[in-house]
Amino acid sequence: MNNLSQNITSVIRKTALALLIATSVTGAAFAASKVEGAPEAEHVDWSWAGVFGTFDRAQLQRGYQVYKEVCASCHSMDLVKFRNLSDAGGPEFSEAAVKALAAEYEIEDGPDVEGEMFMRPRLPKDAMPAPFANNNAAKASNGGALPPDLSLIAKARGHYSFKDLFMGRDGLTGGSNYIYNLLVGYEDEVPEYITNADAHFELGDSNFNNFFDGYKIAMSQPLYEDSVTYTDGTVATLEQQSLDVTSFLIWAAEPKMEERKSIGIKVLLYLIILAGLMYAVKRRIWENIKH
Ligand code: HEC
Repeated sequence: MNNLSQNITSVIRKTALALLIATSVTGAAFAASKVEGAPEAEHVDWSWAGVFGTFDRAQLQRGYQVYKEVCASCHSMDLVKFRNLSDAGGPEFSEAAVKALAAEYEIEDGPDVEGEMFMRPRLPKDAMPAPFANNNAAKASNGGALPPDLSLIAKARGHYSFKDLFMGRDGLTGGSNYIYNLLVGYEDEVPEYITNADAHFELGDSNFNNFFDGYKIAMSQPLYEDSVTYTDGTVATLEQQSLDVTSFLIWAAEPKMEERKSIGIKVLLYLIILAGLMYAVKRRIWENIKH
């Protein structure tokens, strides 16, 4: 073997070894984060999963109702405007419904002709109202913990991350399953699997959640059975409300998901047809040529 090929072989060996070590270390870290006896996270069969998956409009509308009636008292959604609620590929409320939903809240506007600021009902172009004037006020009301803005929380919690795709976070695949399991994962008392693993576990002022990193979360359980009364008559179990609001948060983080998928499918079809045509052209051109 000459020098060059020896060098190449050695580089390949070293890279393979490094990859092997990296995967086993991350694998071990993930395995270690799961305590024995811990409940398994549920993998939800989302309507919008997969290449052809689309949102369920009624579910997104219910999800908005849960957000508005429960979560909005602590969490803002700064990036969502009321008019987005009628956009194609989203909850698709009618424009009249969106006008009415927006008008339930006021916003400061102005100055008027006298130079005074004034309050007016919100319009579809306005953002959703934030529950607190600023982050300090939000923290002060929540025992020092900041309720994060929920506009992009689904992405922030790894909806599309490589790690979630291949390994899962404690068996959770992606932010959607994480958020759903978080909402249904509260316990009134510290479960035995925790006290067995760590006799000194102290909850303090926090709340116990099976799926929050470290198990202690500042947010108290936000949803219970019948926290909302659905306008479409759906029975409001804890699970149903959690599924609905999670889907709503996924849509908020990726409002163009349906458009993206439909363009993707069209592009693939186009490429398949083009490949067929190219093959036919190639055969035609080489037909009478000896090769
Ligand atoms: C009483 C206030 C309050 C309400 C109501 C509330 N939350 Fe929270 N939420 C918080 C606080 C505070 C945190 C920060 C928790 C922490 O860092 O320990 C939080 C954190 C979160 C997180 C991030 C968890 C993480 O991985 O960091 C999500 C997701 C969330 N809330 C969703 C919701 C949803 C959905 C609702 C409505 C069903 C809701 N919250 C209602 C106060 C609230």
